[in-house]
Amino acid sequence: MPKYALLGATGQVGRSVLKVLLESATSTGTKKQINVLVRSRSKFEKQLQTDDFKSLDHSAIGTFEAADVSDVEILARCIRGTRAVFMCVALAKNMPGCTIAQDQAKAVIGALHKLREDDGAGKLPRLVILSSAEAEVEPHFSKGIPWPIRPILYAANSNLYNDLIAAERHLREHQDWVNFCIVKSGGLSWDIARGHEVRFDKQQTFISFADLAGGMLEIADEESDKYDGKNLSVRWAELESDQRSGKTDHTSKRSLPRGWTGR
Ligand SMILES: NC(=O)c1ccc[n+]([C@@H]2O[C@H](COP(=O)([O-])OP(=O)(O)OC[C@H]3O[C@@H](n4cnc5c(N)ncnc54)[C@H](OP(=O)(O)O)[C@@H]3O)[C@@H](O)[C@H]2O)c1
Repeated sequence: MPKYALLGATGQVGRSVLKVLLESATSTGTKKQINVLVRSRSKFEKQLQTDDFKSLDHSAIGTFEAADVSDVEILARCIRGTRAVFMCVALAKNMPGCTIAQDQAKAVIGALHKLREDDGAGKLPRLVILSSAEAEVEPHFSKGIPWPIRPILYAANSNLYNDLIAAERHLREHQDWVNFCIVKSGGLSWDIARGHEVRFDKQQTFISFADLAGGMLEIADEESDKYDGKNLSVRWAELESDQRSGKTDHTSKRSLPRGWTGR
């Protein structure tokens, strides 16, 4: 049974990833073991009773409770033997001095060190890391944002972006032995899933949490190494076909994430 770890399962992105994992398990008939790391088990259990989750099979969820993501011992137990770790611990507000992304990255690297020491040279999981299209020193995903909008947007969330950039720098110091993909999402909205594609070159603002989660699962499950060490973003698949044809084609094929019913 494929096994995943999800950090930040009670957040907006984390819960969307959890939903896509559970729905894809149902639709494909392949049960997935999902280890979640949460700060409050009772908060997470309440989430599982909400409309989004109550009809889904929770029996393969393992819950690991830790006061903070920096608890390397619990983290190592949570991610041991997994195929991929979704790193969705975050702050949604621009807090001065924020280090949450760096704390998460350092703790996961610490946990991977521990697994290597304890278990030897077994295959380590791929890290699928939530970041932002604007968390860039040199504009790549954000280069379509016109001057002077980009500096204004950057300034509005500079503490978050600086933290994400520092976390990426830390991860890249371990690129020779850690397999990770950084998902630089555009602006997010609570919309239905419209079908996604994973991109190396372009972001999209706005994209739904559901489509972002579908893209993150695709990245986690990719069998080749094409996403390894890369900065990626997720867009609507249909947007590209619309742009190519120059019209809105409501019959165009959508690659809905496996099992996703939208929300
Ligand atoms: N919103 C957008 O338009 C947008 C666009 C691009 C990228 N992003 C990215 O998305 C991030 C926000 O994600 P989100 O909306 O999912 O955030 P969120 O809803 O605030 O969720 C944050 C999650 O992290 C957990 N958490 C926070 N601090 C923790 C700690 N010290 N230890 C363990 N867990 C901790 C929270 O747990 P609790 O439930 O216990 O608090 C929660 O599960 C942004 O920072 C940015 O990187 C957002």
